[in-house]
Amino acid sequence: MDFELTEVQRDIQKMCRELAKKELQPNARKWDETHAWPESGVKKLAELSLLGVAVPEALGGAGLDNVCYALAIEEISRGCASTGVIMSVNNSLYCDPVMKFGTDEQKREFLVPYARGEKLGCFGLTEPEAGSDAAAQKTIAVKKGDEYVINGSKNWITVGPKADSIVLFTMTDPAKGNKGITAFLVPTSTKGFNRQPPDKKMGISAAWSCTIYFEDMRVPAKNILGKEGEGFKVAMSTLDGGRIGIAAQAIGIARAAYEEALAYSNERKTFGKPLRDHQAIQFMLADMATEIDAARLLTLRAALMKDRGARHSAESSMAKLYASEMAGRVTNKALQVHGGMGYSKEMDAERHVRDARITEIYEGTSEIQRIVISASLLKE
Ligand code: CAA
Repeated sequence: MDFELTEVQRDIQKMCRELAKKELQPNARKWDETHAWPESGVKKLAELSLLGVAVPEALGGAGLDNVCYALAIEEISRGCASTGVIMSVNNSLYCDPVMKFGTDEQKREFLVPYARGEKLGCFGLTEPEAGSDAAAQKTIAVKKGDEYVINGSKNWITVGPKADSIVLFTMTDPAKGNKGITAFLVPTSTKGFNRQPPDKKMGISAAWSCTIYFEDMRVPAKNILGKEGEGFKVAMSTLDGGRIGIAAQAIGIARAAYEEALAYSNERKTFGKPLRDHQAIQFMLADMATEIDAARLLTLRAALMKDRGARHSAESSMAKLYASEMAGRVTNKALQVHGGMGYSKEMDAERHVRDARITEIYEGTSEIQRIVISASLLKE
């Protein structure tokens, strides 16, 4: 087993680390406080081909592997967790299914400009009554001639307020349950596509999300992504990849918290010596570093399996489950190392705690990851 990264993987990691340090880290607190969309950060992602990392160059992407992608998301999220999830949504939840299930014509219209970063895409699966139970879709698409008329709503759609297109999951045959779900590619300029203002959230405040209502929205049948009735499989296999992105995001947030705690332990003195010379602090730092490494190994394994074309549902869920819960523990420990200053808005420790929390919820809660993992164990 080889734990060495290739030269290309190291180069991407380095490029993203520099971008995070120069452009994202200095702005992340301001974006969080003002709930501002990280415009300059997203622009940089586009310039550096980071919005279509694993999309072939011929289709507008960077043509790299999923290990590069996971390393990149970690570094970007180390600088700004909000920018990290915007990158993850466009790459994993939008470009990936269009690349995998789209026709050549769909790829020209709905993939190339998105992989190039000229446009942004989002993923519409969650509904007010279909969160963890993703098959309980209520948004309905009714065929009328060579069009479908769509009515319903989606909520918590990350990047929704800025997106140019959505991969939209609808029910085309409610009697068939999860086999009655169909995915569509829908430009957000379509009549009947109505976005609400951005949600107010505990963390990742700069990664705007919103509720969307569809009112008699007409979409041509040629915009079906994959086959009619196969939308649930499109959604689930997309989330297998998306969960690698969220695991990597969680690692990036944890690393930000850990590196800042390490630096603070050198500066701050108590009982006549720097914090780092107290064994209580050393043990916390040792636990943090160990857990971050363990999460990264799980995440890179899942990414490597995706690159090899192997089924990686359970491995992605293990990575996401462990990395997100690890990020909760690490960010809380890092806040503790900072003492009272950790609770202050003058430092970033409290933001990392808030940003980490969502990674245990979106793209499947920890409980859902345990369902996916245990289902694969019981199959064996
Ligand atoms: N790949 C391909 N097919 C899959 C699959 C996968 N990973 N997982 C399941 N399927 C197939 C199954 O094989 C089965 O097919 P057959 O009937 O032909 O055998 C079918 O799908 C149904 O599978 P299940 O019976 O397992 O389905 P379920 O209804 O019990 O649900 C679940 C399974 C894992 C709980 C699923 O509902 C789930 O993942 N829920 C969480 C949803 C989620 O993660 N939402 C996140 C929204 S996106 C988001 O959060 C974005 C953001 O903001 C950043």
